[in-house]
Amino acid sequence: MVAPVKKICCIGAGYVGGPTCAVIALKCPQIEVTIVDLNKARIDAWNSPDYQLPIYEPGLLEVVRQARGRNLFFSTDVDAAIEAADLIFVSVNTPTKKSGVGAGYAADLAYVESATRRIADVATRSKIVVEKSTVPCRTAESMRTILEANSKPNCRFDILSNPEFLAEGTAIDDLFAPDRVLIGSLQTPEGVAACEALASVYANWVPRERILTVGLWSSELSKLAANAMLAQRISSINSLSALCENTGANVEELAHAMGRDTRIGPKFLRASVGFGGSCFQKDILNLVYISESVHLPEVAAYWRQVVEMNEYQKHRFAKTVVDTLFNTITNKTIAVLGFAFKADTGDTRESPAIALVRSFLLESAKVTIYDPKVPHEQIWLDLSETLPDWPIEKIQKSVTIAPSALEAAKKSEAIVIATEWKEFREIDWKVIYDTMKKPAFVFDGRLILDAPKLREIGFRVKQIGRPEVLA
Ligand SMILES: NC(=O)c1ccc[n+]([C@@H]2O[C@H](COP(=O)([O-])OP(=O)(O)OC[C@H]3O[C@@H](n4cnc5c(N)ncnc54)[C@H](O)[C@@H]3O)[C@@H](O)[C@H]2O)c1
Repeated sequence: MVAPVKKICCIGAGYVGGPTCAVIALKCPQIEVTIVDLNKARIDAWNSPDYQLPIYEPGLLEVVRQARGRNLFFSTDVDAAIEAADLIFVSVNTPTKKSGVGAGYAADLAYVESATRRIADVATRSKIVVEKSTVPCRTAESMRTILEANSKPNCRFDILSNPEFLAEGTAIDDLFAPDRVLIGSLQTPEGVAACEALASVYANWVPRERILTVGLWSSELSKLAANAMLAQRISSINSLSALCENTGANVEELAHAMGRDTRIGPKFLRASVGFGGSCFQKDILNLVYISESVHLPEVAAYWRQVVEMNEYQKHRFAKTVVDTLFNTITNKTIAVLGFAFKADTGDTRESPAIALVRSFLLESAKVTIYDPKVPHEQIWLDLSETLPDWPIEKIQKSVTIAPSALEAAKKSEAIVIATEWKEFREIDWKVIYDTMKKPAFVFDGRLILDAPKLREIGFRVKQIGRPEVLA
């Protein structure tokens, strides 16, 4: 029997650690939850008196308002929180490695390792350590080796895998009512007891039948596999969108017809300019790397193609813009509406908008950008990273960040919808049309606009996966 968890520490106050542990605190008022991070600015934002939280997520503010200062705390004192905790979530970033062995594919586990070493250095009593970060198979084994090699006498560490399946933009709803909570443990009596201790935390609000317990390695691989399958559906429908544009079929009708088959189902069949976000590409590349490491090149090639199709889709869309604007966009102004990788988040990691703006700038266009939630500094940072040879002054000569969609569109030749923000559906498109150069083009990369209505106003409209000739 493991004693009930009374104090939780979460290492990493990012998009996963922040919302996940804030919801645990809200739903478990008897447990004290401390979320720690080395990034002081991030912790200061979580603690800000006027709740200027470091990430935007619908519903998050309300959760933090209710729990912060009651049983939810944010701190940079990593050691104190580790020492006090019965259970520690490791929720640090695991980006794709940029150099060394596996560069471009493997997950960089340096942050996981440094958090693990900190736990070993600081802990003076036994703890349950939970991998929340998405990690390659058998990372738990490396964590256990590090912990056991460095721990103090009488300290034992039980390692669990508890991957997070929340989706940004709907994170709070996902956490309140998850499809499932997955907990992996060693199938030893101690492992099973630790698993039960964590399951009891979730059982405060998640029905028991939704808490799945499996072996450690299945749990680790399930997260990579789930993201690969989701991304694969997007690449599949996107590959079909290219076929639609060239055959007269309509990708939305196709998705509807396919989705009604209960074996296929309707979700994740929305054609778009491509998937983004910090996880899909990173996790598939990781799966590719693992497949190659265990000498399964055909498996690796299969999953690599999902990422290649995504690159193709972004490239194809950017090329459509240039082709349609009479084969040149030099000195033309393109208004890009949306910069986040999806609606209802301010996160821009791997956002298709970055690739689009890059292509337009390389074609010597002027670009105006509007996004309702992405901070301006983040846009400049992303553009500097994607164009490392361009000094920021050169980027800023060609790019303007606008305070509204209307301002972005003024005097532009074309509008590109890069993110499916609801407000873009509700714009007064007639007013926008009147401010633009003519002919005025709209390229709908998210299939959110009412194309016939826009054509009535006078726009020339191109939508992903729609064969209509320009009118
Ligand atoms: N973002 C998502 O939608 C999502 C969903 C499911 C799983 N995941 C996975 O969850 C993990 C975290 O993702 P994220 O989006 O929250 O990342 P993030 O970059 O937003 O947050 C990670 C935080 O960890 C902190 N950190 C790193 N090393 C640390 C250390 N040694 N001590 C203290 N703090 C440290 C960083 O400063 C950063 O604030 C990743 O493995 C990711 O793949 C992400």
